[in-house]
Amino acid sequence: MTVSDTTPTNTTTTLTPTTKGRTTMRAIQFTDYGQPAVLETVELPRPEAGPGEALVRVAGTTFNQVDATMRAGYLAEVFPVDLPHVPGIDVSGTVIAVGEGVPVDLVGRDVVAFLPMTGPGASAEYATVPAELIAPAPTSIPLADAAALASSALTAWQAIVEQADVRAGQRVLVNGAGGGVGGLAVQLAAAAGATVVATASARSRDAVAAQGASQVIDYTTTPVADAVTEPVDVVLNLVRTTPEETEALVSLVNPGGVFVSTTTPGVVPPGADLRTVSLFVRSDAAQLAHVVQLVDAGELRVDVSAHYPLEALATVHRLGEAGELRGKVVLTPTRHGDGDGDGDQP
Ligand SMILES: NC(=O)c1ccc[n+]([C@@H]2O[C@H](COP(=O)([O-])OP(=O)(O)OC[C@H]3O[C@@H](n4cnc5c(N)ncnc54)[C@H](OP(=O)(O)O)[C@@H]3O)[C@@H](O)[C@H]2O)c1
Repeated sequence: MTVSDTTPTNTTTTLTPTTKGRTTMRAIQFTDYGQPAVLETVELPRPEAGPGEALVRVAGTTFNQVDATMRAGYLAEVFPVDLPHVPGIDVSGTVIAVGEGVPVDLVGRDVVAFLPMTGPGASAEYATVPAELIAPAPTSIPLADAAALASSALTAWQAIVEQADVRAGQRVLVNGAGGGVGGLAVQLAAAAGATVVATASARSRDAVAAQGASQVIDYTTTPVADAVTEPVDVVLNLVRTTPEETEALVSLVNPGGVFVSTTTPGVVPPGADLRTVSLFVRSDAAQLAHVVQLVDAGELRVDVSAHYPLEALATVHRLGEAGELRGKVVLTPTRHGDGDGDGDQP
């Protein structure tokens, strides 16, 4: 779903029906960087769709490690946000209004998007979303769960397909397969015909095997590099590793292969014939739309391990930082009937 088609576009600033009923929304925000306790539930003015934007009634958002890192203030220079900040980079929901320049037939559609890192996020009842980032939501899974696809599936796709170009017959090691990105990466690599070796602890072992890993190494009992007995063509590293661990993972890569990392960068040893890639995921609506099609075709599954009400976001951040979450966690705003006709449940 892009905005470059020939459908009529809205020429007014917004179609938001906020003149009736509640004009505010419940949201979670932080005013100061710090511990999870800085996340507070507040009532904010309901945003309106500006030019090029859609206003989405949020069905789901997610927790990503980067949310915690940003909340703690460690990324204040890399991703400068205005405080107070509403976190949440993944969104799924229903478009209820569009701003200037956006096709009006987007209104009423169920959508998914990976939001800009520095803008207001989706931990709220409503979120504004740049229209060019929007993809149609899958129809085969609950709308809230579609949020679990956005940044994670784009990361997995950009790692396995774009950067590593995984082919049939290759061997791929996914280090950290129990998380949100890993489960999708294992599936994409297996679907390409690769033999997938993955690391996971006992709680994620069955899920990772079901996603297509033919060998699952328990990283809590066995050093990964010791358990991988044959070299691999691709390593996808999704874990923050020490320099020694990173070097050991790079050493597993066959000549001509690639080490892709979303975390600790790899270094090519002197004279070695391999590539290292430090991946920074980008929002890409066309790519996300393709992933959504895979989900609806039954070729890709989203591993949603838990659902929480949005008000539990601070608890989810605590659990995430303590390593107690696996798969993807989806958070859903509690709805209150406001009589404005946009579909809220009483
Ligand atoms: N650079 C980018 O653009 C980008 C994009 C997305 C994500 N990331 C980063 O990439 C990493 C993975 O993302 P994610 O969303 O998949 O994270 P996640 O969902 O938070 O990953 C959690 C999983 O990590 C696994 N894990 C923890 N320590 C491990 C270890 N020592 N060895 C193997 N697995 C371990 C656990 O698996 P078990 O359940 O098996 O114990 C856990 O389920 C995060 O650090 C994230 O911040 C970066």
